Amino acid sequence: MNGVQSTARPSFGSFGLRLAAYSLESKVAGCDWTSRAMRNRNANMNSFRASLIGLTFLLSVGFTAQAQTPAEKPSAPLKAVAVLHPTGGNKLSGTVTFTEVADGVQVQAEITGLTPGNHGFHVHEFGDCSAADASSAGAHFNPTDKPHAGPDATERHVGDMGNVEADASGKANLEYVDHQISLTNDRQSVIGRSVVVHAKADDMKSQPAGDSGARIACGVIGRAKNQ
Ligand code: CU
Ligand code: ZN
Repeated sequence: MNGVQSTARPSFGSFGLRLAAYSLESKVAGCDWTSRAMRNRNANMNSFRASLIGLTFLLSVGFTAQAQTPAEKPSAPLKAVAVLHPTGGNKLSGTVTFTEVADGVQVQAEITGLTPGNHGFHVHEFGDCSAADASSAGAHFNPTDKPHAGPDATERHVGDMGNVEADASGKANLEYVDHQISLTNDRQSVIGRSVVVHAKADDMKSQPAGDSGARIACGVIGRAKNQ
């Protein structure tokens, strides 16, 4: 069977494999007249031929399916979403989306029900918003073990997205491209973690969390439909 496997290399492609199947069949068929007197051997040849054809067919189907897979994949970028839920005693709501772009991940946030001004805005390490004060979300997401800073700093927590600024009506809209957050890189991927909004502004320098006060909203980051 070694001979069959070395003939059916992936580089042959499905057409090549069909040709290989044909030539193998012809070669094995040649055994019929060289060993006509040996019935047992003839029977073995026939079952050997059948299994060769079967194997080559399966390989051919497998390679054809594999070759078609990339063409069927959508070319749309990866997208993730976090729906923000207020912690105990708060009323804000909002949505944060993360979309892969050429030079990073675009972060878009739309939040309502805030007090006017800046509010600390971070990715926290755990996708667990179950505690009434969102303490279950853990610390700032910091897989690279760096100090707390702002989103433009080169040395920062991956989760440091700075602040969202609410207008007089309590609405905040934020849109920027982050260069450390990832949706694909295992180590810096934020999928399965959480977004937390704070009562106070993040000063982007106090350790370990920018002195931004209580956690007023929390949302788990999950995969979104990528279109
Ligand atoms: Cu935070
Ligand atoms: Zn931080």
